[in-house]
Amino acid sequence: MPEKSSRLPGFYKLSLAERADVIAAWAGLTEDEKAVLTGQGLSNEQASHMIENVIGTFCMPLGIAVNFLINGRDYLIPMAVEEPSVVAAAGHAAKLFRAGGGLHTEASDPVMIGQIQVMDIPDMDAAIAAIEANKEKLMGIANECDPIMIRFGGGARDIVVRPLPDTAVGPMLIVHLHFDTRDAMGANAVNSAIETMAPTIAELTGGRTGLRILSNLADQRISKAWGIIPADQLDSHGIPGAKVARLIEEANAFALADPYRAATHNKGIMNGIDPVCLATGNDWRAIEAGAHAYAARNGRYTALTQWRVNEDGDLYGEITLPTAVGMVGGATKVHPTAKVAMKILGVQTAAELGQVMAAVGLAQNLAAIRALSTVGIQRGHMRLHARQVAIAAGATNNQVRLIADKMADAGQINMEYAAELLEELQ
Ligand code: MEV
Repeated sequence: MPEKSSRLPGFYKLSLAERADVIAAWAGLTEDEKAVLTGQGLSNEQASHMIENVIGTFCMPLGIAVNFLINGRDYLIPMAVEEPSVVAAAGHAAKLFRAGGGLHTEASDPVMIGQIQVMDIPDMDAAIAAIEANKEKLMGIANECDPIMIRFGGGARDIVVRPLPDTAVGPMLIVHLHFDTRDAMGANAVNSAIETMAPTIAELTGGRTGLRILSNLADQRISKAWGIIPADQLDSHGIPGAKVARLIEEANAFALADPYRAATHNKGIMNGIDPVCLATGNDWRAIEAGAHAYAARNGRYTALTQWRVNEDGDLYGEITLPTAVGMVGGATKVHPTAKVAMKILGVQTAAELGQVMAAVGLAQNLAAIRALSTVGIQRGHMRLHARQVAIAAGATNNQVRLIADKMADAGQINMEYAAELLEELQ
């Protein structure tokens, strides 16, 4: 059998049930798993065990972004998101990358950071020296907490000291534990390890430990994605592709230079990443916090992506960001829809999941800045708005798209015209 392709031409034209059938066949879903997608997701019973004071569940659309080719492998990307055009834009951008050989990714080891705050230290230099001299002992204590993590190849990797001589309450010493959490997001593992280490830290420094908590600036757990789009693929609304490539480079330069623009630019990147986080049951607040803190790591908030026209005149793009995500523990293994989404995605490790997210973020960014630097985004948005108007006028199923497209093409998006077109169709 040929390698499965994520190119699914016409997928968007199918009915929801037909799309679910296609994905079920593609990913080898069972009937039960398919039923999870189409309505039998999280039960009230399951929900009430997940958080407190549960009164029900909250549904979101789950879409599939097609066309992704990452490191030579085809992926279908499950995205849980309420914003129209995100899923379509990701798939379209993935198609552009595909024409240049697809996206490429790499990742660091999945190392998270735990922080211990130490106060009231009598001699800062001596405290630092004591920690440095006892690194192995401290890492040994950290590793005692989670034998399973150690068995899977994770565990303490380093201890780093960071004195903060001048805070609002006086000097303090921050001790970082670098801890490889393998396929777990790792918050629990890291927090347990540092809580266990803290008394020894207090003893070694002669100080008093304060906070002991994971850092969401996961700059030791980084994913990178990059790819090339041949200039001729970028032709857009009468603008030649080579020109569009240059316009995208200019749009990126704006975001690199200006935090006001960078915030929106990066929001567009997270439009792609958060829905994958949500669909796979990961903590999207952690990913958001990490991404934005990383964007400001050099003291000035900037864009997470780099775009430039390369020596062949084609467009090269890359993204680097922390991807603290897991595939064991948490909602990933509890939420029925997240479990099915993971099966569709077919990733083998948390590091692979992080890399896929980076690739989706890069594609999403491309779609946004390509539209912004050419026709603007309202054009596409108006088409989607037209669909809402068509539905409000009573259109159903295939009528919705037909009527919406006619209204958008005519530049006349209103209820009266929608009703007129509906009558003609009927
Ligand atoms: C809207 O959700 C996202 C964009 O604003 C991103 C961007 O400006 O790059 C279109």
